[in-house]
Amino acid sequence: MALSRQHLAALLALCAFAMARPAAGANVSITTCRSFCGNITVDYPFALHPGCGHAGFRDLLFCIDRVLMLHLPSGSYRVLDIDYSYRGLTLHDPAMSDCRAIDRSPAGRGNGFAVEPWRAPFLAPDPDNVFLLLGCRASSPLFQGFPDRHLPCRNVSGMGCGDYYGCPAWDDYYDDGRRRPSGAAYGTAVPPECCAVSWGAIRSVNVSRLQCEGYSSAYSLAPVRAAEGAGGWAYGIRVAWQLPEANRGFCGACRATGGVCGHDEGSHADLCLCGDWNSTSNCDSSSDSARSSAAAPGTAAASLFLAVLVSGFSSLSLYGSMANM
Ligand SMILES: *[C@@H]1O[C@H](CO)[C@@H](O)[C@H](O)[C@H]1NC(C)=O
Ligand SMILES: *[C@@H]1O[C@H](CO)[C@@H](O)[C@H](O)[C@H]1NC(C)=O
Ligand SMILES: *[C@@H]1O[C@H](CO)[C@@H](O)[C@H](O)[C@H]1NC(C)=O
Ligand SMILES: *[C@@H]1O[C@H](CO)[C@@H](O)[C@H](O)[C@H]1NC(C)=O
Ligand SMILES: *[C@@H]1O[C@H](CO)[C@@H](O)[C@H](O)[C@H]1NC(C)=O
Repeated sequence: MALSRQHLAALLALCAFAMARPAAGANVSITTCRSFCGNITVDYPFALHPGCGHAGFRDLLFCIDRVLMLHLPSGSYRVLDIDYSYRGLTLHDPAMSDCRAIDRSPAGRGNGFAVEPWRAPFLAPDPDNVFLLLGCRASSPLFQGFPDRHLPCRNVSGMGCGDYYGCPAWDDYYDDGRRRPSGAAYGTAVPPECCAVSWGAIRSVNVSRLQCEGYSSAYSLAPVRAAEGAGGWAYGIRVAWQLPEANRGFCGACRATGGVCGHDEGSHADLCLCGDWNSTSNCDSSSDSARSSAAAPGTAAASLFLAVLVSGFSSLSLYGSMANM
């Protein structure tokens, strides 16, 4: 029996259908990768489980006694907040100075901030975050790398050492009668007692390498109100994160098909977690999947339809059932 035109078309459509939709989507619980630490929600691109989240943020967050900690080569920081809408993390370093207390020692105090080179495209302090480096030596690389310019010290988003010198912390620090630094320090005194820099200017805040005695860090979420001075700043490190452009489409398609975005623990490539199988695209497609066993349902369905087809069902009823799919 020769296949009619309609039969052939139906057969081709069926084959395409069977190949494109073997798993018919997934229904993976969002709690597969979302978790809580204390009162902070840890969700994509961050994760506490291996294989969850984006690979750029792997081995980064740890929940210790309901306290969320972020580990970098420069040290461990407490995570105070994860702002998913503005893609910002707020970190606290207990060893850094603030407006109430100056924390300095000749060997350098505090972690500063340094990320692994491979992680740098994903995580960096916000451009509006100011690092206030304290007591850096004249031989510091901070003052050496700028032969043709003035000192790299400057106000960042309206925050600088001039205002910081107004903090009560300096009263205690200079209560032994030493002269308190003045706001006009930049350019005159070398090295200045305090040097404010943005992350973009130095790309790594390594307090010991910069030969400083300590540091402070502050950020502004809203425009700084001058009247409040440094007492009104938020102290901590505000970090911004970003994902590669291609990840957006990948993750959107993965979620739309009932999957949860993750990554391959070996290759670090994006992976869509579809329940009992993983896909390199989404839970509706198998062409490029990392699946092992789930090919069977689609194939079985195709053979069943094929059997129906050859056993003499009219092409009309077949088209009817196709239309309902
Ligand atoms: C997904 O599974 C949950 C329970 O596991 C169920 O309540 C829900 O209706 C399912 N959703 C779909 C679209 O199948
Ligand atoms: C979490 O709880 C602390 C107090 O334990 C509170 O200061 C903070 O604002 C809370 N954070 C969130 C995101 O609710
Ligand atoms: C899917 O990927 C996740 C994360 O990499 C992994 O933990 C899990 O074992 C994988 N599942 C399968 C079925 O390969
Ligand atoms: C910071 O600098 C010191 C001294 O140069 C170096 O030993 C250390 O590895 C650096 N730390 C980081 C996180 O780069
Ligand atoms: C930095 O800010 C202070 C206080 O607002 C201001 O007095 C000073 O002129 C600013 N310095 C520079 C270099 O803009």
